[in-house]
Amino acid sequence: MPQLPAPDYPADVRARLEADAKEVIARYPDSRSALLPLLHLVQAEEGHVTRTGVRFCAELLGLTTAEVTAVSTFYSMYRRKPSGDYQVGVCTNTLCAVMGGDAIYDALKDHLDIGHGETTGDGKVTLEHIECNAACDFAPVVMVNWEFFDNQTVESATQLVDDLRAGQQVAPTRGAPLCTYKETARILAGFPDERPGAVEATGGAGHASLIGLKLAKGETAPGRVVTQRGGPPQDSAPETGLSANDAPQRTSASDPEHPAEPVTGQRHEAGTAPRSGSAPQETSASDPAHPAGPAAEEGE
Ligand code: FES
Repeated sequence: MPQLPAPDYPADVRARLEADAKEVIARYPDSRSALLPLLHLVQAEEGHVTRTGVRFCAELLGLTTAEVTAVSTFYSMYRRKPSGDYQVGVCTNTLCAVMGGDAIYDALKDHLDIGHGETTGDGKVTLEHIECNAACDFAPVVMVNWEFFDNQTVESATQLVDDLRAGQQVAPTRGAPLCTYKETARILAGFPDERPGAVEATGGAGHASLIGLKLAKGETAPGRVVTQRGGPPQDSAPETGLSANDAPQRTSASDPEHPAEPVTGQRHEAGTAPRSGSAPQETSASDPAHPAGPAAEEGE
């Protein structure tokens, strides 16, 4: 039977956390709005949201412990039990899954001998499935304490967790250098990341994202070396990594009753249909009831 009410922090810890909490609360016109950062703050103290942390948040914000508990159990970024210094999250949403995320998760589960939400015996690594982190252009993605490790393989992800357990320095593919879960939680609570160069390192988009942006803006995507069956290589711009299939296509091209003119003059070999989302699409062209025309193009 748990103690009621939950035990408080030791006096010195309480005084330190109260000072931090008041700084956070002062940023909001309504103190209740500070609940999410305060949950990160107490998570930074103990590595997870304890009953003591819930009591602290409730007292500082004038809420009930039931209200604080309801919020902390809703969001997956708050942990309810002790866990490792490094949260290794493998994205197993659709795109990452088919690009290797499922295989990576299964391999790490076997290699570490733990399941979802479980922690290695040395307290270093907690393994988790994670949802899409909007980094699909770098699939399959593994995140450690919410820093990106892009384009992973079973081998690279296995090496990653081995290095983390061995205390080796590991560097995310992009973004700020890695820090421990508690340190990450304090940054998420709204306190500045004071490590030299850390803030600057978070700027800018990755190469793959910038290619997508160019396509979305309607810029022509240069091709890369395309080898026709039985023919020599044609057309090259190898630095882009784009294939001939990445160029803009009219959606009506897939409608046999409304064939579209080729936009680029390219032809696709069987089995190499353009990927959805590769480029801007004239969606109205695929609707027989509302064929695309000059008025539509003018924003009718
Ligand atoms: S599906 Fe993995 S980052 Fe989007």
